[in-house]
Amino acid sequence: MEELLQKILEQNRYRVKYGRVASYIPALAKADPGNVGISVANMKGQLFTAGDCCVKFTMQSIAKPLALIQALVDRGPVEVFRKVGMEPTGDPFNSIIKLETLNPSKPLNPMINAGAIAITSLIKGKNSSERIERILKLVRLMAGNESIGINEKVYRSEKETAHRNRAMAYFMLDTGVLDGDVEDILDTYFLQCAIEVTCSDIANIALCLANRGSTPAGREIVPAEIVRIITTFMVTCGMYNASGEFAIKAGIPAKSGVSGGIMAVVPQKMGIGVYSPALDPKGNSTAGIHILEDLSAWLDLSIF
Ligand code: DON
Repeated sequence: MEELLQKILEQNRYRVKYGRVASYIPALAKADPGNVGISVANMKGQLFTAGDCCVKFTMQSIAKPLALIQALVDRGPVEVFRKVGMEPTGDPFNSIIKLETLNPSKPLNPMINAGAIAITSLIKGKNSSERIERILKLVRLMAGNESIGINEKVYRSEKETAHRNRAMAYFMLDTGVLDGDVEDILDTYFLQCAIEVTCSDIANIALCLANRGSTPAGREIVPAEIVRIITTFMVTCGMYNASGEFAIKAGIPAKSGVSGGIMAVVPQKMGIGVYSPALDPKGNSTAGIHILEDLSAWLDLSIF
């Protein structure tokens, strides 16, 4: 397996030059655009790695499905989907337009920024620190890594510059999607985006989803019914407005983030974490996407 990972990684390394490291969050611009790493965790919990699998990066949008898990555990699907829809958008991840044009106003799904901010507001806790502690506890359990924490620099950098997310949050306060302390809700959202992981952490989290919510040792962390909802969203909305193409080419439920990570779940087979910070214009890792497509072709991983 490691030989195959190495080969696929080397074949796709050149693609980093067709992408750009995200810079709208200033601290993300410091990433090394040459980094490429992959980790695969099989159903026994064994890890196979290649390249920069131990470089730390922030989860960014990969935290969205995890926050959704916590909100579903806390509130149940009826309450959650009263606030946020289940449909893909076809728009960029940070688009604001449909918040105004849809009537009644409701973010289309939990994988875009507006939807994720609304989901974060549903997580139980009296303030941001209580909410983020609960998200972190879930992430640590799923990853089997107690040392996972927050990258303070990235958190602060986003908090200082997130004008568009702030605009969306206040818009949602106006339309009743959000209630309560908007800055406190945004704070949890910025913190969850700044959770710092490696490819191997992501592979282990994905493995927990691939194993219907349980660790390889059989301990249930997430109810299977919630895992089903999460992996379905990963297929329909996980790669933003590239989700359709990725479903055809790779056929693996996946979630990308603007730091360059992608979490991919192959049900009953494996969890995969890929990292390469050079992004395409839609915000997905250029090398990462193709590595997953090639791995899927080699190992016949498409779920379709
Ligand atoms: O809110 C943002 O814009 C970022 N913290 C996360 C966006 C993101 O990762 C989109 N992914 N492709």
